[in-house]
Amino acid sequence: MNENASTKQKAEVDVEDRRMRYRRIPDEAVRRLPMYLRGLLLCSEEGLQNVSSHKLSELLHINPPQIRKDLSYFGAFGTPGVGYDTAKLAKQIRGILKIDTPNKAALVGLGNLGSAILKYPGFGSYNLEISAVFDNDPVKIGKTVRDVKVEDVSKLSALKKKGITLGIIAVPASAAQAVADGLVKAGIRGILNFAPYYLDVPRKVKVISIDIAMDLARLPYYLPASA
Ligand code: NAI
Repeated sequence: MNENASTKQKAEVDVEDRRMRYRRIPDEAVRRLPMYLRGLLLCSEEGLQNVSSHKLSELLHINPPQIRKDLSYFGAFGTPGVGYDTAKLAKQIRGILKIDTPNKAALVGLGNLGSAILKYPGFGSYNLEISAVFDNDPVKIGKTVRDVKVEDVSKLSALKKKGITLGIIAVPASAAQAVADGLVKAGIRGILNFAPYYLDVPRKVKVISIDIAMDLARLPYYLPASA
């Protein structure tokens, strides 16, 4: 086998090896990556060029072995006794999360929740932008809110041309599945779902559901028993 062919084969093996490792990574570890990124940004604002897992632990209230274990799923980071290079690790985490390049999202449902989401200024730190909004209310369709024109939900297929791959569902539960179907048909591969509804989507589509009420319902469990 010539040298080029062997290098190519090795690269293919490396890529497959990384894919295999990614498949085994627990969702919880992935869920904590944006937290690590936030911690690193805070350290960078403090002017820290290097950060230890203990320092991150103090900031994030996640124990140091957990931090080291989570990061080890993705490669070898940091130097013993020195810690992690703050800027380098932040860059690497952005790469792992695939937010090192901009990601555009479409929001469906511009009601109370959708309007609050659209107003939220915090997406920029993660290279995320809501660049399309859809609703089925004729009063809202055609209006421009926060520089984004509200489009008719029946035009979801337009997303394909806009290079938008993420969707946010903020419609009533009764409309959530139809909206998810429309998003999937339009090429959306990741959905953040706020509607209290279990969406049925193809395996290639990742759904993350957020339910404040369910989280709140867990909280009393941790309260001390009343006398
Ligand atoms: P809302 O009634 O204020 O807004 C819903 C919006 O969706 C309206 O603008 C309506 O015109 C639009 N809509 C309805 N059917 C549609 C369709 N088929 N296609 C496109 N747009 C459609 O409701 P709100 O309070 O904003 O809640 C939205 C959703 O988020 C609900 O499912 C609610 O249960 C859920 N929610 C979830 C929370 C969470 O923590 N996960 C917190 C609050 C609300």
